[in-house]
Amino acid sequence: EFIKAYAPATVANVCCGFDVLGFAMEHPGDEVWARKKETPGVTISAVTGVTGLSLDPTENVIGVVAQKMLSDLKIGHGVELQLHKGLPVGSGLGSSAASSAAAAYAMNELLGKPFTTQELVVYAMEGERKASGSAHADNVAPSLLGGFVLVRSYDPLDIVPLGVPVELYCTVVHPQVELKTSLARSILKKDIPLQKGIRQWGNLAGLITGLLKGDYSLIGRSLHDEIFEPERSVLIPLFNQAKAAAISAGALGCGISGSGPSIFALSATEEQAMAVQHAMEQVYGSSGIEVKSYVTQV
Ligand code: HSE
Repeated sequence: EFIKAYAPATVANVCCGFDVLGFAMEHPGDEVWARKKETPGVTISAVTGVTGLSLDPTENVIGVVAQKMLSDLKIGHGVELQLHKGLPVGSGLGSSAASSAAAAYAMNELLGKPFTTQELVVYAMEGERKASGSAHADNVAPSLLGGFVLVRSYDPLDIVPLGVPVELYCTVVHPQVELKTSLARSILKKDIPLQKGIRQWGNLAGLITGLLKGDYSLIGRSLHDEIFEPERSVLIPLFNQAKAAAISAGALGCGISGSGPSIFALSATEEQAMAVQHAMEQVYGSSGIEVKSYVTQV
């Protein structure tokens, strides 16, 4: 009698779209199970797949999301939740977002669909606020909606689903170090030099246009980030070497996935994405730094 919801990993920022662009992958992902209970409030009866996540509903993002939904609806009964994680924590693959998105979706089904998808994004953002101190939507929106999603504005929230207009494969390489989004945000400079801003919004517009027109060359020319990547890449072992290897192996582009430490590269074909995976793996091969990597369709 549990309602089960799956929400996938996501790549936020996609180089030039800091906090405003993300896409979903087919896998891995998290599952949240939800069922009604007679007593009020939220309990979390199990967390599997990772160690160290709290069962306390005020500390775990799925509890925070569910509690907010129950309070807003003024519902008397409670819910029991379980979290089954397929995603590693602190990976840059939208781990907290996938849990939050799956919780919002499962709760909505359990409660008889009182909320629109856009409203579910807002609830899932509360999980992000809990996890990272910032309620960004560039992971939760694609995790809930699939494909690429543009967050055109935060206030008012304006979510623009772009789907997957062109075939793309994503190579993910995850150096086995944990990096907290809150830390990776705290090191960012608060001001952007005008010339870098100009190049960034040119690239973001180019990337969106390339996606919508199916223009791989334009997508490739646009996948750059001169603002945040240089500041954050110092936190990621062998980032520059891995990126160079991905580009030499034929990736359309490569960058930090969300706030890292995972690195993503986009390719036009699965074969290409696997060649890119091989090239990036080789960079780490002799370094003693352990990585996990995989290829998935966008
Ligand atoms: N846009 C967010 C950031 C995503 O880069 O901090 C975090 O996964």
